[in-house]
This record gives sequence, structure tokens and C-alpha cells, in this order.
Amino acid sequence: MGEMIICKGKLVPSTEAAIDLEDRGYQFGDGVYEVIRVYNGVMFTLDEHLDRLAGSLEKIKISLPCPLEELKGLLVQLVDINQIKTGTVYLQVTRGSAPRNHAFPGKNVEPVITAYTKEVPLPVETTDNGVSAIVVEDIRWLKCDIKSLNLLGSVLAKETAVENGCYEAIQHRGNLVTEGSSSNISIVFDGKVITHPANHLILNGIVRQVILKLCAKQGIPVEERPFAIEEMMGADEVFLSSTTSEITPIIKIEKETIGNGSPGKITKLLQSLYRNEIDLHCGK
Ligand SMILES: Cc1ncc(COP(=O)(O)O)c(C=O)c1O
Repeated sequence: MGEMIICKGKLVPSTEAAIDLEDRGYQFGDGVYEVIRVYNGVMFTLDEHLDRLAGSLEKIKISLPCPLEELKGLLVQLVDINQIKTGTVYLQVTRGSAPRNHAFPGKNVEPVITAYTKEVPLPVETTDNGVSAIVVEDIRWLKCDIKSLNLLGSVLAKETAVENGCYEAIQHRGNLVTEGSSSNISIVFDGKVITHPANHLILNGIVRQVILKLCAKQGIPVEERPFAIEEMMGADEVFLSSTTSEITPIIKIEKETIGNGSPGKITKLLQSLYRNEIDLHCGK
């Protein structure tokens, strides 16, 4: 953790951080969060993350206690002060602290903003070589578009992956793939990228959004539609995308090899386009 953090909306030394036992994030998971990557000391797609945060907050009826622009300024200061070069910012907003009661507290209870930085190396080994995944039932609620602090479904899914020696758990409802426990899933068939539409069943990943923009710019065909598990197993390529894992090839699912068992052509092309985009916005 960096030396300074944001606690209750202010930059303070991490040693001075204190969160109330009755913070609703702690007791109910009543809040939302974002994870933003820092490259070369610059937050990548910060505006997109803040937009999504604002959307998540609105959907759970929390109003930010300060303007979004002010929060943005604080985050920039945080990254600068902690001199983070390659890392992440974790940002969380809860409904605040109040005597425990499921119903919303009164209007006088202010939402609690916290954020901290961490040096996190680039996921070079996994993005270069690919990873394996298992398939698990999606047991989460039906508002997966909200980046909620309630992550039990994802936690259980990821733990099953790890217990099986895998990197990610690919979740499905019925026969249709939704997303990974902490990533979006795309498949490639004959040069076309297919990914679940951004509805209530998935989190509309920021990396997913960048990928779709890059595909549009490069003329790579895209279909946003759900796909079945069998379709995924027979795909030429499968990849996951997330802020921390970037674009990671999935080369094995449930002991079956995907494509020829090595990172595919379109996945590698998207990785290099994504890298260019980072260089463009964050410098080399
Ligand atoms: C459930 C879920 N889907 C997708 C993603 C990818 O989102 P992003 O690309 O914004 O990191 C995440 C990231 O943590 C996630 O938790």
C-alpha cells in the first residue's frame, strides 16, 4: 500500500486510516468500487472508470459527497504523492456509517470514499503464454452491471478455479456464458470477436469497452451476443479481459485445449493494439 491514502474523502497517511465498524460497506457490502491501472505514473481510462462509478452509485441510490471532478483531482494527487509508476488504484464508496439497520440511513449520513494505491507489475507471463480456466455456474444476483462490493459469488467462483489449478472461472447461466469471476470473456471465430452484450448479466468492463472501440477502428468484426459453452469450447480463440489482467489468452478450459493451445492471432493483435493505446495515453 502507498504511504498516503484517501480516507473519508481526504488525503491522509495510511497509518491514520480508520473505518467505523458500522460502515455499511463492511456490514452489508453496501457500496461500489473501481480498480484503475496506473501505467508510467498515469491512470489509464480514468474518465471511463469514474463514469462507471457514477453509474453504479446512481443504480444503488448513493450520491457522491463531492463533485466527480474533485474526486478525480484527489486520485491524481494520490498517485503522484505515492509515486506509483506501474500499479493500481482501488477506489471505494460506501453508503456511510450508521447504526446497523438494513434500510438506508438518514440523509445526514455521508457516503464514505476511500482509495489506496499499490505497485502491481504488468501481467507479462500470463498475457504472453495464456492461462487455463474452468467453467462454473453463475450464482450471482441479477444486477451484475453494478460494480458492487458484494463479491461472494465471484469469490466462490475464483476459489473453485484456484482449487483446480486454474487462473479464472468462466461463469454460465443455463448453457450461456456470462463472464469470468473478475473478467469479461470473449471468443474468436474466423476472425470475428464475440462477447456477451453489456446488460444486467455482466459488468461492462472498461477493457472490454476499449477492445470494442479498437475493433471498430481496425475493422475487426464484432458480435455482441451471448454464446453457449460448447461454442466457446470449439472457438479458434478465447480470451479474458480486465484492468489488472489486461487481455489474457485462455488456452485451456476444463482440460480441453482451445484452438491450437497457444495464444491466437486476433488475441495477440488486440494485445498489441491495447498496448499502443496505453502508450498513447500514458506515455512509454
Ligand atoms: C465480474 C467482472 N467482470 C468484468 C471485469 C472487468 O472489468 P474491467 O475491464 O473494467 O476491469 C471485472 C473486473 O474486475 C469483474 O469483476
